[in-house]
Amino acid sequence: MGKKSVEEFVFVCSGKDCKKNGSKKLHKALEVYIKEKKLKNKVGLVKMKCTGNCHEGPTVIHNNIMIAKAKAKHIVSKLDKK
Ligand code: FES
Repeated sequence: MGKKSVEEFVFVCSGKDCKKNGSKKLHKALEVYIKEKKLKNKVGLVKMKCTGNCHEGPTVIHNNIMIAKAKAKHIVSKLDKK
């Protein structure tokens, strides 16, 4: 079993408050996008625990930048710039 090496990661909060604000749907949308664009070997999509930014969820961390009230279109536009 080899290690997977990707160019970047997108962390999506799976905490309770972010779930209430749509993080599950956001994660699914990104999963579908990554699959459709064949980015699986470039982009790692990871569920993360609460970061304490619950009031501004769903929270995403991409390239070490925290994105509050994240929407799939925000993340996709950043991934499209690759
Ligand atoms: S539940 Fe997502 S930041 Fe706390």
